[in-house]
Amino acid sequence: MAKNIVIANWKMNPDKSSIAQKLFQDITKKAAKYKKIEVVIAPPYIFLPAAFKKNKAASLGAQDAFWGETGSSTGEISSRMLKNIGVSHVIVGHSERRAIGESNELIAKKLRGVLKEDMAPILCIGERERDGGAKYLSFLTDQLTTAFFGISKKDVLQTIIAYEPIWAIGKSAQEAMDAHKLYEMTIFIQKVLTSLYGREVASKARIIYGGSVEESNAENLLKNGNISGFLVGRGSLDAQSFDEILSVVEKGKK
Ligand code: PGA
Repeated sequence: MAKNIVIANWKMNPDKSSIAQKLFQDITKKAAKYKKIEVVIAPPYIFLPAAFKKNKAASLGAQDAFWGETGSSTGEISSRMLKNIGVSHVIVGHSERRAIGESNELIAKKLRGVLKEDMAPILCIGERERDGGAKYLSFLTDQLTTAFFGISKKDVLQTIIAYEPIWAIGKSAQEAMDAHKLYEMTIFIQKVLTSLYGREVASKARIIYGGSVEESNAENLLKNGNISGFLVGRGSLDAQSFDEILSVVEKGKK
């Protein structure tokens, strides 16, 4: 069975290379203690290259990638380029990118680009808000079915699905999703995957949670949320806080 995974999404932080290098070193030093989890650090592109010498404690992640390999796409970075500098995981469809205009179709192209390079995509999905009529469920179904349209079973299993309800991102642990609701949502995601790929794929697919994960809520979410790990934003910008989350995941059972 695949290890639980914890991904550090630094977003647009920090503002200096020296701080990024120090944070990377501090996190990898701590991550080296843990044997039962996979740790991925996704800094901004600019801090990815030479700055980070190969280490065994964490894999390198990127926060986005354009499709295609090389070509006339001003300002973009391709999956191929990322792979060539040692990146193994790429976040696609984060809600903060959807908020600046990325559509389900664009995200589907990016997902394919990552898979083509045989890297692991981290596909983010999540509703902006909850409505009484449960429209958010069809919103999530659309996000999943468009992203996975025409994608093979093998590639779905290579993809990590990060369920991140937008209303729970960047808040406090108390305002994050509770474990019971998370359980319902991961079952729902598995149901959608069952309809697309069958039960076996749905039960093996890796689903993680993101949205105000801290040490204080990580244990309950992991034990009762039917998840395989976390995508951590703010809590990954401080090595000590991130270490506390890692330690909970190392101890926790799925
Ligand atoms: P947060 O961010 O942990 O700061 O809520 C999570 C994310 O947006 O990936």
